[in-house]
Amino acid sequence: MKRLNHFCALAALLSLGLAPLVTRGAGEDVPTLAIDASQTVAHISPLMYGMMTEEINHSYDGGLYGELVQNRVFKNDSTQPVHWSVVTAPGASATIALDQANPLNTNLLPCLRLDVTAASDQARPGVANDGYWGIPVLAHTHYTASFYAKAAPGAPEQVTVAIESNEGATVYAQARVKALTSEWQKYTVTLKTGGLMPTDKARFVLRVNQPGTVWFNLVSLFPPTWHHRPNGNRIDLMQKLDDMQPTFLRCPGGNFLEGDAIVNRFPWKTTLGDLVTRPGHPGCWGYRATDGLGLLEFLEWAEDLHAQPVLAVFAGYSLPPKSEMIPAGPALQPYVQDALDEIEYVTGDTTTTWGARRAADGHPQPFPLTYVEIGNEDWFDPSGSYDGRFTQFYDAIKAKYPRLQLISTVGNEQPEAKRVHSRIPDVVDEHYYRSARDFEQDGPTRFEKYDRKGPKIFVGEWAAYEKIVPWDRASGKLPPTPAMRSALGDAAWMAAMERNADIIVMNCYAPMLVNVNPGGRQWRPNLIGYDALHSFGSPSYYAIQLFSRYHGDAVLKAALTGLPAGELAPLDYSVTRDTAKGLIYVKVVNITAQPQIVYLTLNGVASIAGKATVVTLAGDPEETNSINDPVHLVPVTTKRAGVSSSFAHTFAPHSITVLELKAK
Ligand code: AHR
Repeated sequence: MKRLNHFCALAALLSLGLAPLVTRGAGEDVPTLAIDASQTVAHISPLMYGMMTEEINHSYDGGLYGELVQNRVFKNDSTQPVHWSVVTAPGASATIALDQANPLNTNLLPCLRLDVTAASDQARPGVANDGYWGIPVLAHTHYTASFYAKAAPGAPEQVTVAIESNEGATVYAQARVKALTSEWQKYTVTLKTGGLMPTDKARFVLRVNQPGTVWFNLVSLFPPTWHHRPNGNRIDLMQKLDDMQPTFLRCPGGNFLEGDAIVNRFPWKTTLGDLVTRPGHPGCWGYRATDGLGLLEFLEWAEDLHAQPVLAVFAGYSLPPKSEMIPAGPALQPYVQDALDEIEYVTGDTTTTWGARRAADGHPQPFPLTYVEIGNEDWFDPSGSYDGRFTQFYDAIKAKYPRLQLISTVGNEQPEAKRVHSRIPDVVDEHYYRSARDFEQDGPTRFEKYDRKGPKIFVGEWAAYEKIVPWDRASGKLPPTPAMRSALGDAAWMAAMERNADIIVMNCYAPMLVNVNPGGRQWRPNLIGYDALHSFGSPSYYAIQLFSRYHGDAVLKAALTGLPAGELAPLDYSVTRDTAKGLIYVKVVNITAQPQIVYLTLNGVASIAGKATVVTLAGDPEETNSINDPVHLVPVTTKRAGVSSSFAHTFAPHSITVLELKAK
């Protein structure tokens, strides 16, 4: 029967002029993907593909968060106003300094002091900010500039606000603020650019026209943002995230939640409200977080992409080497209460304390919430306290919110002794950073071995790398985003996760974002790269698109046979169905350098359309996308004919392919 199908398929191919590119010798078996569409082997969770986020690689500040001024509250360095410089001109002179003696409020103690000794209308000294590796200037664009300022008696009352070229020769946009007083006040202006060539060789400048002393704080410049949100997100990056069609946002995940000391954990309560009330905090990846992108901004980010938050709550443990830990018991109770407050902020109605606070912050409507993750990677805790800490959080959260699904951060890939035993977590979070080859080798069998009655699995961080492990500093020598080699490993891994959708309910790649400028990153590989002006998706980004956009709601029974024996299968696959649309998605990953013919047989359908849509991402394993070549490797959509219940398809070398079949 199988041979007959092959002959039918071959005949159909030849009649269409689609001769297969390779043939096997006599007696050799031919890869066959046999699909039984009458049998659903798993339902795919509606939250299967999502986003993991933390402040790493300038993901928020200097990344997704729209703010263009770096060190806007002068806390990045305690000795000097880094990223700020004095601007002078012939006939003008001034100095700048950090000033701790003129706090704007208790959250924002240091400020910038500008002492002007010579100035006039023609020669205006001032201060310039160099942004996050430049200020991006776009044509016909409205920027919102704001700052707090006060002036010493007799000092200048006017400030000129401008975006200009780095050396000051070209002013792209400017506006004037009048009437500074001796009290701190906020000033806001709109800067409008005209026709120009986009550039990031630009700076943001505040100038004065008279001698005297002026103080500045919370100096901000925003471009237009996604959905026009004030304090919002960068449009091109949100578009890239939207194109992934993510269904959840793990926020905030990773080490950023824990901090390098408990005092430096993600301080959700001080990330709320007006920016003037946000002190920011030391991040754990070598730079300070403004917390301008705070808890409400996470929730609105998810909302804007029709995704739901997966809320990660601090669980009483911070990162090695300090590994500070609060043991289960009374000392942990304030942290448990903090998590309950946080859940109330996300989900409570406006009659609750924290729901009312969310409404006061501008979002009366509660957010949807299904999953809460308790901590991050708690297998690092050398004391073994996680079982007790998890239990205390679990009991308190379940008592108040019984419908919430609670995630343990220690999964089946960790030693048994590290896992939670006192309670049964609803879900466990497993993290996999592996070589592309490991993913190709491990993917097919890893999840098949798992106990189907155990907790569901959230693969909350995963990525394939080439050559060097992500946390090795030597990886800094490689491009910031992965090459096609990794995308193939990622695709094999996603195919395996889809086939095991009966236990895997969510997954997300990490890290998602990277500023590609020198010094911008702490990790490699990363999914999406950018500088101030441009952004691009890596081949892995497009591989994820092929899975997140084309999976539907059900995994169909399928078997791939006829592969040559060996430790590494040349092909991997996943077959799923979108029941509502009447579409079957056959995804095949060809990791080899040869085209691969696969015979597909489709049973259990009444009819199948003769034409199919084919989406293919293919390319040399060494090649990738970059700022200068952003769409070198992207999926290509074509149509093919000759589809029937038995047909052959040739999968290109080094490719990830989706065959979209219309079948009833
Ligand atoms: O994704 C980078 C880091 O890897 C995360 O912060 C941490 O959870 C993991 O170890």
